[in-house]
Amino acid sequence: MDYKIIDIKSTHYDDPKAGGLSFFEAERDVPFPIRRMYWIYDAEKGTHRGFHAHTLNWQLLFCPHGSIDLILDDGKSRETVTLDDPAKGLVLTPGLWREMIWNETGSILCVAASEYYDPEEYIRDYDEFIAYRKKKDSMENEKK
Ligand code: TYD
Repeated sequence: MDYKIIDIKSTHYDDPKAGGLSFFEAERDVPFPIRRMYWIYDAEKGTHRGFHAHTLNWQLLFCPHGSIDLILDDGKSRETVTLDDPAKGLVLTPGLWREMIWNETGSILCVAASEYYDPEEYIRDYDEFIAYRKKKDSMENEKK
């Protein structure tokens, strides 16, 4: 499936009680230009969000606190990636259906996106997504 798990650079003080510090730099560490950041917070355990695909956005998702399951769907199969480590990033290409499940209350989901917010580039209906994916896949197969 067209996603990638990346290591986000991280440092720790010698004293583990002083915590960690993670960072990424645009262009150097992220495989797309970042135009927007957003984050989801104050969600309770069991929260189920998302239920959409993007037609244009590349995204880097990370969870700086807590644990969140990302269910990813390319129209043929589903895979789950758990974000439970501030040093773990998930790069999603356009055209993937995603759902998120909060494993712990208060977990935070941060997203760096390649595009400005545009509701027109969302697909929110699953049947529409399947039709879009079939067309996209057959166009890509023709190119090969
Ligand atoms: P939405 O993408 O629907 O979140 P989810 O699918 O996880 O429930 O966004 C929720 C609302 O926030 C929606 O009304 C649009 C608004 N929004 C913006 O205005 N700008 C943004 O960058 C994002 C991500 C959302």
